[in-house]
Amino acid sequence: MSVEKPGKPDKKSSGTPKTVTKVLKNRAGLSNGRPPTAAKPSASLSHKKTRDQIRSHHQLNKQLATAEAKGDDAEAGELIKRIEDLGGLQSYQLASIQGQAKDRGGDSSSVLMQWLKPLAEQMALREHKIRMLEVGALSMANACSKSGLFDIERIDLPVPDSDKTQFDIISLSLVLNFVPDPEGRGEMLRRTCQFLNKHARRAFGDELQAIFPALFLVLPAPCIVNSRYINEERLTCMMASMGYVMLQRKLTAKLVYYLWQLRDKPRKDKQDFPKKQVNPGASRNNFCVVLNITPPLRDRTQQRPTRPTSLDAPATLADLTNTENRIEALLSLNGPVMVLFRDMTNQITTLRTRVEKAEAETRDLRTHVDLTFESFAAETTKVIKETNAKCQEVIDSNDEKMAAATMRVEGGP
Ligand SMILES: C[S@@+](CC[C@H](N)C(=O)[O-])C[C@H]1O[C@@H](n2cnc3c(N)ncnc32)[C@H](O)[C@@H]1O
Repeated sequence: MSVEKPGKPDKKSSGTPKTVTKVLKNRAGLSNGRPPTAAKPSASLSHKKTRDQIRSHHQLNKQLATAEAKGDDAEAGELIKRIEDLGGLQSYQLASIQGQAKDRGGDSSSVLMQWLKPLAEQMALREHKIRMLEVGALSMANACSKSGLFDIERIDLPVPDSDKTQFDIISLSLVLNFVPDPEGRGEMLRRTCQFLNKHARRAFGDELQAIFPALFLVLPAPCIVNSRYINEERLTCMMASMGYVMLQRKLTAKLVYYLWQLRDKPRKDKQDFPKKQVNPGASRNNFCVVLNITPPLRDRTQQRPTRPTSLDAPATLADLTNTENRIEALLSLNGPVMVLFRDMTNQITTLRTRVEKAEAETRDLRTHVDLTFESFAAETTKVIKETNAKCQEVIDSNDEKMAAATMRVEGGP
């Protein structure tokens, strides 16, 4: 069965949304109830208008987060008013639905469905559908909804308070970049782990085990390829510190898509990713994700009690797991690291071939020298023997001549 020819489309969408994160507070102006779920907004916005609206909304939210962090109430009030003047969250969401239209690049979940295509049959045969949490869900007309392969829980801002449910896959498509501050983004990523059913992996006794539990993450491409503070290597290490391994990656002119599997235990002691320039340059952007051992201050009051640590392995084993995890994550990178790695491997192979060739030549040469030496030695021995024999002959004949001469002198016979 293909992903495109599904069973029944998922209809379980209208239940109360669950909280994924409280990173963004429900501010006046952002609290406009459930997002619109219609496939198409009635009024079509121009491409440029859509883009400008989304951009302005992002910028104003970022400024608002900064003003709130500084405690600048006047500035924050002014920014909230400007967001409302733009139509608030609802107009942003409408613009985002427009952005999903086919003529504007299509919906990002179609990439996920492509990646899962080889597993579609197995997924369809399961007694219980794979449970998906779609964060920032704007429409039920997207590819993952239409596939009928998932039992989907959709949430969007404003987020309510319950967060007990476990899922097999989370879709975080174009949501992380919506979070206005770097610490909030790190926290959102970290929280995805709490929602993924870590036992699911063992429960899937088949190829699905190689994919789930998973996180489908989509970001605007410049966030990763042109940021001063984050690149793919750093993101991979950050994800690895949470236990994620990259399974798939796709880069287009506009977006970067990833599929991560939550495979290992998080290493909180390794979660130390402060704001740090990894890619300096005047033309770069400031997108940043900060992941710290300590959660952001404003969020601590909302922390649930920490989970039992029965999952924590002994330090040495955990170290090993983490190292393996990082190596695996790095090896699964299709980006510059992989290219570098491949180049180095090629160079090593070339060098090894040259060394082997040189060794073989040396061996041949030595054999040749040995043979030459042996035949030279044999020849020399032969010449010496012959010379000796000749000398002996000469000596013998000389001796005879001497004896004859002596006898003549002495008047012998
Ligand atoms: C650009 S839209 C993305 C829509 C869709 N997922 C896609 O890929 O096209 C971003 C959505 O994320 C929602 N969002 C942002 N932060 C969120 C959060 N913390 N929890 C839930 N939804 C959030 C916004 O309300 C918005 O509807």
